[in-house]
Amino acid sequence: MKTMLNVALPKGRLGEKVYAMFEKAGFECPSIKEQNRKLIFENEEVGVRYFWVKPSDVAIYVERGAADIGVAGKDILLEYEPNVYELLDLDIGKCRMAVAAKNDFRDDPSRTLRVATKFSNIARSYYASLDRDIDIIHLNGSIEIAPILDLSDVIVDIVETGTTLKENQLEVFETIVPISARLISNKSSFKFKNQQIEKIVGEISAQLGK
Ligand code: PRP
Repeated sequence: MKTMLNVALPKGRLGEKVYAMFEKAGFECPSIKEQNRKLIFENEEVGVRYFWVKPSDVAIYVERGAADIGVAGKDILLEYEPNVYELLDLDIGKCRMAVAAKNDFRDDPSRTLRVATKFSNIARSYYASLDRDIDIIHLNGSIEIAPILDLSDVIVDIVETGTTLKENQLEVFETIVPISARLISNKSSFKFKNQQIEKIVGEISAQLGK
């Protein structure tokens, strides 16, 4: 029997793009396209099993070995620093981590800056690198509301099209880091299932012209 390669895919549109790359790489699993609420799909013939997981959870599955490989945003990798290998930049899910504020915001360096974010570690190390005192206000979503209600001075958040900021009268002040989706691997799986993993990396790199 073939060794099964367990793959954690981020649920949603990004995950569908990722699956298409895997399919083209020879790891097809036709049942995944059935419209249902199932979360696990496998194709024993080619030796692959896919799980749909919440995008921000992919790295946890991979770090703990519940999945051998997976696809996670660079934002999650920077924020949680999971103990995994980052194998390949997939050049999709592109966006940036940015500092945004109300259009009329002017920073006063003599005061502690109030920063609302879901990405506390990224924000903390960014402002540490600038030697700027901050007060982190950790939120779980709808971050854009914080400066409007004067809960914070700025936000650190993901900007993709910029629509969310614009519709809330906020604008980008600084870009912290560009973000994209990365193929990641569990460290021991990389050793023990190396052939399968290297095949995927090779095939997908070729698709991307890398
Ligand atoms: C992200 C981010 C912004 C939005 C940016 O939220 O937090 O709110 O996308 O995209 P835009 O620049 O294209 O408008 P997401 O939809 O991931 O949901 P969240 O509120 O749970 O973070």
